[in-house]
Amino acid sequence: MNVLVIGGAGYIGSHILRVMTRHGHTCIAFDDLCKGHAQAIGAVALVKANGGDRAALVAAMRQHKIDLVIHLAAFIEAGESVVQPDKYFRNNTLIGLTLLEAMREAGVKRMVFSSTAAVYGQPERVPIEETDRLEPINPYGASKLCVEYMLRAYAAAYGLGCVALRYFNVAGADPAGGIGEDHSPETHLIPLVLQVPLGKRPGVKIFGDDYETPDGTCTRDYIHVMDLAEAHRLAAEVIEPGTAKAYNLGNGEGFSVRQIIETCRKVTGKTIQADLAPRRAGDPARLVASSAKAQKELGWRPQYPQIETIVAHAWNWHRTHPNGYGDK
Ligand code: UFG
Repeated sequence: MNVLVIGGAGYIGSHILRVMTRHGHTCIAFDDLCKGHAQAIGAVALVKANGGDRAALVAAMRQHKIDLVIHLAAFIEAGESVVQPDKYFRNNTLIGLTLLEAMREAGVKRMVFSSTAAVYGQPERVPIEETDRLEPINPYGASKLCVEYMLRAYAAAYGLGCVALRYFNVAGADPAGGIGEDHSPETHLIPLVLQVPLGKRPGVKIFGDDYETPDGTCTRDYIHVMDLAEAHRLAAEVIEPGTAKAYNLGNGEGFSVRQIIETCRKVTGKTIQADLAPRRAGDPARLVASSAKAQKELGWRPQYPQIETIVAHAWNWHRTHPNGYGDK
């Protein structure tokens, strides 16, 4: 298949390029490099343009005879979305609509969309199933859920085939090396904790220890970025026109902030200073996925479900690239 990966130079996008390419698909990265990194895409061709540039999207789809779009380009900071919702609805939701219109114009019928656990908000129960209540508690989650609703409508009205993948907490790096997580600013727990043994920060903050969880800190379901990338490939290969489906992607086990810090200590063999800080606004106590639907319908089998492996692969990347790609 010829695949256009919008946001292909980002953390998850670059891993998807590798997995898709290894399986014989031809990928084109479409990225304005405002957050992404040119070095992350390897030998894959780059269209350097913004996801909101309809003419550039249509031209790329026609020129490269695109069969399927994987759409990852988005702003992802839930906290920032609360104070700058315009940025999130403009970038995540409006660009989603522009992309769908560009696909109609170019006759591209299939899309895999990067959605998020944030569409559930405060879950009523864990593990979360796809049919559970969708009630985002921040504009980030709402901006993504709007796109999911558009996908459903476009599937029904125009025969688009789409899959929304609701990611839980993505971490790790390709064990083959060379690519990994490089956000600026970094807000995610595992890379922040690993900055301590790298000497880049004196310690890490634990945002609250009075949640209703076994050790009082928030629990999250961590998924290896290569397993996530593989799920995109599987979804891409089974999409049926006229359908819109959604799948959770996680490992079905919650790890607390304290457990993650402890795992980082074990994997790096270093002391890691951790201090208690106030709760961060908008953090649900527990987010754990049921991925039974993805396992059943997509045949998805995570290859790296162990948290130690996820952290070890993340550490391998950060240890060898302490300044990430060094381009920002
Ligand atoms: N945490 C800390 N200290 C830190 C950073 C995070 O204690 O320095 C805690 C958070 O409070 C949270 C857990 O670690 O309980 C995980 O936090 P992350 O920021 O790594 O991940 P989130 O679960 O907040 O974020 C995930 C995705 C985001 C997305 C968000 C939406 O990784 O991209 O869900 O809810 F925006």
